[in-house]
Amino acid sequence: MTTSEMLKKYSAEVSSSLEARVADGGEYSHSVFDAMRYSLMNGGKRIRPALVLEFARINGLTDQNAAMPFACAIEMIHTYSLIHDDLPCMDNDDLRRGKPSCHVAFGVDIALLAGDALLSLAFETASKADLRFISPENVIKCINELAFASGAEGMVGGQVIDLLTEGKEISESTLKEMHFGKTGRMIICAARMGCISANADVKALKAATEYAHNIGRVFQIVDDILDITGDEKILGKPIGSDAANCKTTYATLLGVEGAFALASELTEKAKNSLRCVYGESADALCGLADMLLNRKN
Ligand code: IPE
Ligand code: IPE
Ligand code: MG
Ligand code: MG
Ligand code: MG
Repeated sequence: MTTSEMLKKYSAEVSSSLEARVADGGEYSHSVFDAMRYSLMNGGKRIRPALVLEFARINGLTDQNAAMPFACAIEMIHTYSLIHDDLPCMDNDDLRRGKPSCHVAFGVDIALLAGDALLSLAFETASKADLRFISPENVIKCINELAFASGAEGMVGGQVIDLLTEGKEISESTLKEMHFGKTGRMIICAARMGCISANADVKALKAATEYAHNIGRVFQIVDDILDITGDEKILGKPIGSDAANCKTTYATLLGVEGAFALASELTEKAKNSLRCVYGESADALCGLADMLLNRKN
């Protein structure tokens, strides 16, 4: 399977599984469900769920669908993080995944609650993993990874650095720490949950973690570059948001070319970590690393 075939397949499967998990609400709660569905079913690239499912597959998980609850859970948390990231009190962006941001469509109050509800639904979903295929111990390990990666030492922590350093000069090491928190931890978590659901050994888990660590860095560096060089129509979110909010990014520190050179170097590292342990079965994931480096959206 090529990388684009893999992404297409997983994206379709994940989208239909997500759709089924966001049930309709009652007289009042339907508005929060509408907002959750609006953001969740709104054409994200589904990179994190694809990592979960592909790492589960190459580590030999017998039932392919068994890792789906973790794939859906991480996409729910990611979507919640985007809803909150766009709020006026954070990046104040009006466009997301090619449509008006959640708070523009539903109001700040409902958008805030839709984010909260997606976070809770993520843990409900993960806790429903099928124990015939994944041991209770590994389910708990995955839930622990998810909680850690999304919390104050992970995504939330990175977002805090991002907000508190707006308009300030920061060092490359602080920037690296910010990226690791806001983006890296969740990407690492996706890869690790895939491995853990397949009961992968220490070596396989370590290689996956190294790969995800490096593609996570690439992912946010390229995101920063696209905020300058991207096309809003292709990107589906506003360009120039980082400059408007006076953020330090790799593009402001190293220049667009310098940032891309660093991203290229990290992509090679990511692929090498996987190749050594997984050999040819890592083809699609190596292709994914290249695709993330060269993406336009
Ligand atoms: C955007 O993530 C936020 C970052 C961590 C840079 P994605 O680029 O994966 O967004 P979607 O899910 O495809 O919309
Ligand atoms: C946000 O980074 C990462 C999250 C945890 C949501 P950005 O603020 O750069 O993401 P975009 O560019 O709005 O997608
Ligand atoms: Mg942000
Ligand atoms: Mg943003
Ligand atoms: Mg950005």
